[in-house]
Amino acid sequence: MLKNVGFIAAASLFIWNFCTQSSTHTAEVTQIVLNEEAPEALYKQYCASCHGEKVEMFVDRSWKYGNAKPQLIKSITQGSLDNGMPAWGEVLSAQEIDALAGLIVEKLATVSQYQFNNKPQTAIFESSAGTLRMDTLATGLTSPWGIEQLPDRSLLVTDRSGKLYHVSTNGQKKEVSGVPEVVAEGQGGLLDITLHPQFEKNNWVYLSYSKGKMEGGQKLATTAIYRAKWSNGQLVEGQDIFVGEPWSRTRYHFGSRIVFDKKGYLFFTMGDRGNQQDNPQNLSSDAGKVHRIHEDGKIPVDNPFLKTKGARPTIYSYGHRNPQGLVYLAERDELWAHEHGPRGGDEINIVKKGHNYGWPVISYGINYDGKAFTNLTAKEGMDQPVIYWIPSIAPSGMTFVTSDKYPTWKGDLFSGSLRFKYLNRSVMSGQKVKEEIKELPNVGRMREVFQGRDGYLYLGLEEPGLVVRVNSGK
Ligand code: HEC
Repeated sequence: MLKNVGFIAAASLFIWNFCTQSSTHTAEVTQIVLNEEAPEALYKQYCASCHGEKVEMFVDRSWKYGNAKPQLIKSITQGSLDNGMPAWGEVLSAQEIDALAGLIVEKLATVSQYQFNNKPQTAIFESSAGTLRMDTLATGLTSPWGIEQLPDRSLLVTDRSGKLYHVSTNGQKKEVSGVPEVVAEGQGGLLDITLHPQFEKNNWVYLSYSKGKMEGGQKLATTAIYRAKWSNGQLVEGQDIFVGEPWSRTRYHFGSRIVFDKKGYLFFTMGDRGNQQDNPQNLSSDAGKVHRIHEDGKIPVDNPFLKTKGARPTIYSYGHRNPQGLVYLAERDELWAHEHGPRGGDEINIVKKGHNYGWPVISYGINYDGKAFTNLTAKEGMDQPVIYWIPSIAPSGMTFVTSDKYPTWKGDLFSGSLRFKYLNRSVMSGQKVKEEIKELPNVGRMREVFQGRDGYLYLGLEEPGLVVRVNSGK
């Protein structure tokens, strides 16, 4: 093990230099002239139809004309008529425009809270769990999407590029053969990995990936689940146990997280494949769903929509957008997922059999062009999230800390943030999130967070792609 220390230190150094520091907004404190609700009410009345219901979401944008208060007053007063922004100087009083600009400035803090000022120079971080050290175990990956740990404590790491790596406890990385051919385009490729709960006896490894086929001169893709046996450092006897319908030309929203529960059911997510109108609410499509199958792909006899005409038999829950986090909490027999909202409105949900999570009928998010696509955030028959994130943190990877490695964190839920490059700690009290804490600021674009059988957290980071173990102490 000692020999390994030099390797880890050298690799860590090279990594921490690339991190960029994001610019910071200085959210000046503004005096709001009118009473507290007034600017919010003005915003709802005059602005929400184009800029979305929540000011918090409007402010999460790249600013064309500047976001300091005088610039905002100018934008609002004069508008940008050719581009569809009315000139409000003719409609609202100077005092009302001042109040709206003040409200925008105030809400800018919801975005700037994620613009961390640190630029990590070392692999040591202070956190709510004390001093933590990132031990680099593997480098040279594109996007370490899924991490698993074998009984001998070595790791299996999927790289979105289509490669599976075996990473030994001393940081030796070897490519594993026997993986399916993947469509490594857009968000597609080799995605998640999980082991059978009785892996020690049967050696089954499960992978999710973007599967391709040619049809009518076009290359189509879909989400598929594959299983194979781990044998002498390779995968053998591989076969698909699920191939999602419909196939599509898009290369995004594959979903793809996989977990087993304690009864041996295999759950996995499939994103809406970029077709929110046709897929998530439609039970005859596999897209925009959480699915449940047996370990060999067979369909459980009590799946919720088996008796629904035309419904896909593997569906367990529906109305999802693009869940890239899925975790099973054995002690309470609960399945938790998070998913990306459109622009803001990322959600954490407890996934229940037969339930509808509402996408795209209800959502806290807005369209990428800033327009609200739905004003509904709640509807009967559709589940509310446990929490939602505004602005969008772009969550990927999810785990509960159940080990004793980080005592303060025990029982809490952790999600990686691709966008803001940190680890999100949701401090739990039963099924409620008590508090959200940003850990490891600027550690890297976090694609995966995984608790190994040794109790440590392992992170998959992008740009550059590497795998680190979160260790306590310096
Ligand atoms: C009819 C739709 C519409 C309404 C209503 C509307 N806006 Fe806009 N707004 C736009 C569009 C479109 C743009 C982008 C203009 C451009 O790109 O030049 C914009 C731009 C802006 C900008 C400049 C953003 C930047 O990037 O610098 C501000 C500030 C703004 N709006 C505030 C408001 C406020 C405050 C209200 C309510 C009083 C409001 N808008 C109502 C459509 C609208």
